[in-house]
Amino acid sequence: MEGVKILGVGKYCPENVVTNFDLEKIVETSDEWIVKRTGIKERRISDGEGTVEIAYKAALNALKNSNCGKDDIDLIIVATTSPDKIMPSTACSVQGLLDCKNAAAFDISAACSGFVYSLIIADSLIKSAGKKRALIIGAEVLSKIVDWSDRSTCVLFGDGAGAMVIEASDENSIISSCFASDGKLGEKTLVAAEINLNTPFAKSENIEKRYIEMKGGEVFKFAVSILPEIVNDVLDKGNENLENIKYIVPHQANSRIIDEAARRLKVNREKFYVNVDKYGNTSAASIPIALSELSEKGLINKGDKIILAAFGGGLTWASTLIKF
Ligand code: COA
Repeated sequence: MEGVKILGVGKYCPENVVTNFDLEKIVETSDEWIVKRTGIKERRISDGEGTVEIAYKAALNALKNSNCGKDDIDLIIVATTSPDKIMPSTACSVQGLLDCKNAAAFDISAACSGFVYSLIIADSLIKSAGKKRALIIGAEVLSKIVDWSDRSTCVLFGDGAGAMVIEASDENSIISSCFASDGKLGEKTLVAAEINLNTPFAKSENIEKRYIEMKGGEVFKFAVSILPEIVNDVLDKGNENLENIKYIVPHQANSRIIDEAARRLKVNREKFYVNVDKYGNTSAASIPIALSELSEKGLINKGDKIILAAFGGGLTWASTLIKF
């Protein structure tokens, strides 16, 4: 078996809905400003559930939708920038809860591109390392690392998790992909929760930064230029054209970024699936949540070609052309 097939997707988002009107009570902002600049109307915010818990619930949903049992999973990758602990990894904790014996498990940190990075890595490990069935999860409780007094960031983010199950097959669902990074730009534009370096041996005192800090305008410029580029990249590599693509599922950061990408690609905006209005930016979880929603609504069928396109902190970017 030389290919990899997608078996199913699933999601879990905390039940607690926080609207823009709720945020008006916390920071100086307005529903009108947030909707106009971002398209976001509401987001889910955890009222106590951690990243492991929501990752586990999304995994159960994906396993159910894939009609497969936990025992068949031999690889678990969790993409997250908001783990509950540095150790054990979120993936190991999920492995423990699922009790799927002998699965390799690890987290990857590629911010909002993390799910697509994970899919590319899992695809490669199935093809090169003898793994048979992988569970890939994007899970974030960003509310833990958001500065709730900073109106320029706290209105943007939300909590949630999405997952996918893939397996070794004669079919091939992962047609083409790309992933890359720019750490210099990342340091200057989008950082979160620096680790405290104040050891007894440090030469100078370091200020601990615990929250997301972002230069929104610069990230916006980066996003609108990289999104069309990575869509075209996987089309070229996959020898495909946009007419044959049912949906582009972009990272859900801001509807204005998606509008501009559609304009630059000269493609109907309807080809982009957008749900940022309901969930805000859930970083690594945004693409699998959107994909699950598409599947739940019956908007995608087996064989449909879809492009997943992500960008985010790092800075990182990644895309893949899949056959659902
Ligand atoms: N409510 C009301 N006013 C706000 C606000 C809020 N939540 N946040 C910022 N403002 C104010 C600013 O203070 C500024 O006021 P001033 O002109 O008096 O200084 C004004 O609105 C404009 O701020 P600016 O940052 O220039 O707005 P913008 O049009 O660039 O929109 C973002 C800000 C964050 C929505 C936009 O830059 C963006 O979406 N960037 C990309 C972010 C992103 O997607 N990041 C994740 C990538 S994975």
